[in-house]
Amino acid sequence: MGRGILILYSTIDGHTRKICERLQQVLEGAGHRVTLASIADQPNLDLSPFDKIVIGASIRYGQHRPQVADFMNARRRELEGRPNAFFSVNVVARKPGKDTPATNPYVKKFLRQLSWRPREMAVFAGKIDYPKYDFWDRQVIRFIMWLTGGPTERDAVVDFTDWNKVEAFGRRVGEM
Ligand SMILES: Cc1cc2nc3c(=O)[nH]c(=O)nc-3n(C[C@H](O)[C@H](O)[C@H](O)COP(=O)(O)O)c2cc1C
Repeated sequence: MGRGILILYSTIDGHTRKICERLQQVLEGAGHRVTLASIADQPNLDLSPFDKIVIGASIRYGQHRPQVADFMNARRRELEGRPNAFFSVNVVARKPGKDTPATNPYVKKFLRQLSWRPREMAVFAGKIDYPKYDFWDRQVIRFIMWLTGGPTERDAVVDFTDWNKVEAFGRRVGEM
């Protein structure tokens, strides 16, 4: 114990990592020691030195990376043995009524894949960044945005994240 807070993330385009960096700022500002690590890069990371653990993951085509639930189930005992938190990043969460852990469809589905329940949870709206996507991803996401009233211009870049909500979650993590 004593290494402070570990924030583990699963990201593709980097937005979840950016949210983790904001959490890190908030927590370091409150005097905590913070380490960031990617689940994909460090699936076997020793969790025992850390006092608290936060896991954040983004949604791609309806799910978080399978390695996220696999990691959380395999490491259940270590995670449950200390204060822990989970957050999801997806664009459906930009919609009122789908923006809390209890109402976001991906979080609800994800929790059914877990054999346990994280102590603190949050869901944040993500980012649309069409210039970053390959042709097919761009077409598919634009179509979904057209269906759901989101941005469809082919070069749109829209950050839906409520950064105040991220910071409030950071404070909750600091106190958990
Ligand atoms: C190929 C692709 C598929 C996506 N699928 C979904 C989806 O099924 N549901 C959703 O709410 N958001 C979806 N998103 C939006 C992402 O969750 C959002 O862009 C998020 O900010 C990505 O975070 P990351 O950069 O950490 O991977 C998708 C984005 C991309 C690029």
